Amino acid sequence: MTRPSQRLWCYATVMVIVLSGLPPGASAQDKDLARTPPMGWNSWNRFGPGVSDAIVRAQAAALVASGMKAAGYQYVIIDDGWQGERDATGTLAANERFPDMKGLAHFIHSMGLKFGAYSSPGAKSCQGFAGSLGHEDQDAQTFASWGIDYLKYDWCGGQGDPKAAYAKMHDALRRTGRPIVYSICEYGMDRVWSWGASVGGNLWRTTMDIADNYDRMSVVGFSQAGLERFAGPGHWNDPDMLEVGNGGMNFDEYRTHMGLWCLLAAPLIAGTDLTQMKPETIGILTNPEVIAVDQDPAGIQGRRVAEEGPLETWVKPLSDGSRAVGLFNRAAHNLPMTASFRDIGVPEVARVRDLWARHDMGVLRERVSANVNAHGMVMLRVWGSTEDTTATGPSMSGQ
Ligand code: GLA
Repeated sequence: MTRPSQRLWCYATVMVIVLSGLPPGASAQDKDLARTPPMGWNSWNRFGPGVSDAIVRAQAAALVASGMKAAGYQYVIIDDGWQGERDATGTLAANERFPDMKGLAHFIHSMGLKFGAYSSPGAKSCQGFAGSLGHEDQDAQTFASWGIDYLKYDWCGGQGDPKAAYAKMHDALRRTGRPIVYSICEYGMDRVWSWGASVGGNLWRTTMDIADNYDRMSVVGFSQAGLERFAGPGHWNDPDMLEVGNGGMNFDEYRTHMGLWCLLAAPLIAGTDLTQMKPETIGILTNPEVIAVDQDPAGIQGRRVAEEGPLETWVKPLSDGSRAVGLFNRAAHNLPMTASFRDIGVPEVARVRDLWARHDMGVLRERVSANVNAHGMVMLRVWGSTEDTTATGPSMSGQ
């Protein structure tokens, strides 16, 4: 039974959410943050705890020079490994590999990029560096004074109620007055997707760590099925950062990784050495039509609509009424595959475009078929209205 005062409180809370369009826990300061899934680069997957100022500067420059920035990648994020010691007042400094955090932030901002850092709600980070436990306000102020725009807050060493610990840092970030994207890294424990937004999270990891191999990447990616309803503008499920380009998967497997993440409306945080990318890596990371699926303003996470042994069809509804479709072959040999328009959710006659090939497949009836490489995917966009002539539509040659 709820008391009248409780009912009034619930009603007031719901009205605040409805009127502001923000999840509970979010403030006006948060309202423009991560309206589409954040895109950027993070040091961890490639450089681990040995990251340095020189590495980060080189990566930021390469983000611009490679065309990644133009494709939408924006945040340059230092993961675990930058932290030094606290002084007598408790203020945290960076270690000797980061002599000038403010200068580094300025360098990144001067290129039109945004700057991200990492901490932990525990006393120590996963790598044993200083965490923010008991220093949340102080650290938030320090981060804001450097000019950070994004904080990844990683549970390692955290104790007690994660919800309270994450809310505490969000409140501290809010008190700085600086808009800071808040990335909750709690590995999907405690059904974080059901409360991440209520403690101010803009994204939350839904699984333990990804690794640079097909088995782990596919377990992480395909396990997102069912989490769709928890994602939306400003608050995203995060199946971890990209491994594209790191060498442990082949071309088709990296396309599967990127295509699946885009269908999932997942954050696109590249994790390779941007100064050493092969053209095929740049091609996968910057394909504009594939990225447009991820960044679609409706912010709807795609879902699995059909399964046949190792073959899976995933669909993401897009804001212009079209559908992005992934035809995935999880087998270790090539297979032909067919998806029905009924499963895709479009009328009997529809126009189809292949987004990786950037090639129109024409107006088709009832179904679309393709040969899908081992561990690969074909990514399509399907327009139910054949009259539709949007700029990204298949009526353009796009070649
Ligand atoms: C955890 C996180 C990783 C990375 C490391 C850093 O494993 O899940 O993404 O941040 O910690 O130590």
